[in-house]
Amino acid sequence: MATLSTKHLLGIKNITAEDIDLIFKTADNFKEVINRPIKKVPSLRDVTIANIFFENSTRTRISFELAEKRLSADVVNFSASSSSVKKGETLLDTVNNILAMKVDMVVMRHPSPGAPHFLSEKIGANVVNAGDGTHEHPTQALLDAFSMREKLGNLKGKKIAIFGDILHSRVAMSNIFCLQKLGAKVGVCGPPTLIPKHIKELGVEVSHNVEETLNWCDVANVLRIQLERQDIKFFPSLREYSQYFGIDKKLLDGLKKEIIVMHPGPINRGVEMTSDVADSKQSIILNQVENGVAVRMAVLYLLANKRD
Ligand code: CP
Repeated sequence: MATLSTKHLLGIKNITAEDIDLIFKTADNFKEVINRPIKKVPSLRDVTIANIFFENSTRTRISFELAEKRLSADVVNFSASSSSVKKGETLLDTVNNILAMKVDMVVMRHPSPGAPHFLSEKIGANVVNAGDGTHEHPTQALLDAFSMREKLGNLKGKKIAIFGDILHSRVAMSNIFCLQKLGAKVGVCGPPTLIPKHIKELGVEVSHNVEETLNWCDVANVLRIQLERQDIKFFPSLREYSQYFGIDKKLLDGLKKEIIVMHPGPINRGVEMTSDVADSKQSIILNQVENGVAVRMAVLYLLANKRD
């Protein structure tokens, strides 16, 4: 049986194109499962998974929990805001206490880049990164690329543009690594202040012109402005941002070809895109969410086979 090259999913940077291909093929099977009347398989019946979230989440937390339940795993959910972290307990003490209750896998979201990597060196359980600060969000990139592949087939040579707040986005970093491993051409577009200075060294195209970039790409993956990570002003106002960098229906309708529109959510409607774009027939935003469950089932199933 084919297996992943890694025991943990910490980021896309450190996995191979073969790993991504295996995750997609496994997710194809699980997508068929979750569309059956009985959406559950017994694959992880003997596995206990803790979802440990130190940052807010709607999609990722629910999607992992559903994926785990569809695989018949036992699931415990931990939210830092209602835990003993508030009394000063460290990350490692918190996780070791959870593991003492015989937990096999940990899915963690944390505001500090590298927190899941630190954990993976200290504990025996498999660790899945559900987003670490501005660093990586590997399952988001996998579900994004899986959704593009569903619409476009092989992504080799396809042009994918990522719009918006690249500087603060773990989704952008993981998307760039994932799409390049799949042979796609990647561009980023946003205000100069929200594009990392050395991003060209990753081999991506850089533009500050939304209309030009929309005309270049096959897919527009539009990111949220992460005001919660912006302790200084990176642009004068949301109104000005939406005027110069927001995507509206007039822009889409004026393009020479029909492109696919994506957004990882949550959307700031009227800021990075207007509602008529988010809800248009070109938008696959809810397909991304549906595919997230199948992709996460695949990741958990494959990592469970790598348990010590
Ligand atoms: N896309 C994403 O990570 O959404 P949540 O923050 O709601 O999990």
